[in-house]
Amino acid sequence: MLRMTRRGVLAAASAATASAFVPARFAIGGVAKVKVGLMLPYSGTYAGLGEAITNAFKMAVAEKGGTLGGREVQFVALDDESHPGKAPENTNKLVVGEKVDFLVGTVHSGVAMGMLRVVGETGTITVIPNAGANAATGPLCGPNIFRTSFSSWQACYPMGKVAVDRGLKKVVTITWKYAGGDEMVGGFVENFTKSGGTVVEQIQVPFPSEEFQPYLTQIAALKPDGVFTFFAGSGALKFVKDYAAAGLKPIQLMGPGFLTDGVLAAQGEAAEGVLTTLHYADALDIPENRTFRAAYKNAFGKEADVYAVQGYDAAQVLAHGMAAVNGDTGAREALIAAMEKAEIRSPRGLFTFSKAHNPVQDIYLRQVQGRQENVVGIAHKALSDPARGCRMA
Ligand code: PHB
Repeated sequence: MLRMTRRGVLAAASAATASAFVPARFAIGGVAKVKVGLMLPYSGTYAGLGEAITNAFKMAVAEKGGTLGGREVQFVALDDESHPGKAPENTNKLVVGEKVDFLVGTVHSGVAMGMLRVVGETGTITVIPNAGANAATGPLCGPNIFRTSFSSWQACYPMGKVAVDRGLKKVVTITWKYAGGDEMVGGFVENFTKSGGTVVEQIQVPFPSEEFQPYLTQIAALKPDGVFTFFAGSGALKFVKDYAAAGLKPIQLMGPGFLTDGVLAAQGEAAEGVLTTLHYADALDIPENRTFRAAYKNAFGKEADVYAVQGYDAAQVLAHGMAAVNGDTGAREALIAAMEKAEIRSPRGLFTFSKAHNPVQDIYLRQVQGRQENVVGIAHKALSDPARGCRMA
């Protein structure tokens, strides 16, 4: 883990500058390693998400003999603490200090926005393995920025119609107050109101607070038909448990699949009936998913989740680009062109990239039934993010 002091950063920067005089392909001892920076949360409420992404990214590289485009991979991991204020400095540590060839990050949308402002300037090829910030494939899009996860809009828009179709006409929304939460709820509300639903109240909880009790009392008093929510990681685990304990289960709980992914087993009975939309489901019965889940379980002794899938696919798209240029990161345009054209055989199913570099993908409708996440339908087939504000789209 990289926890650098200012002096450490300077030392690393000058070492990197010195080694930059050795052409990458002819470094002493053969071909130079390709450096991948992992900027992810390894502490706090999203720590489990960062771990799953890292595990699966490394697993994908290991499946290719520890290489990308034939070059051995060196990882530099940095804990971004899901702290937006530290994002520019942390990104600089990897991009300027460590001179990484590729940046993989991050989970938290607010941190991603700070990160993107830096790589928008430096041009570092960056793959976002989670953060849904609409701006990443909107106003902040760029040729060097790819996302293997989802946009917040994309993960939540389909549920707006599902809710109305199921007779849930009056809904309360509740989420953490930050870009991630606001935009997830925004995607849902856009389609929900368009389909004839009414939003009764929009509740915002400071990030990363897990004190839900007063809000649950408020929801009980409002008596809506349904509740739409975005929480993730340990916050999702606690919210679903607290919701059930407050006796609110007769009010249909819905949200993007982050509400249960990775925490379903720990939620136990409390998660029964929870209805979610997501671009993945554990139970997808396709060969890519079966193979991936078995390999992940074998390597790490736990079940894979959506975050692992996104991390795995981040490595897949980089592998695709690097194979096309035989590991020559200097062939930047060809590398990016190959990444753009990649058809990723993901555990979620095959996906391609939109012009804004966001996955075009099926959004599944899932429900927890008998402690299992069952796929009950496809909420939206091949959904593409509208990429509002992206000059490449
Ligand atoms: C986000 O901040 O964009 C975010 C965080 C955690 C998730 C999904 C999205 O599970």
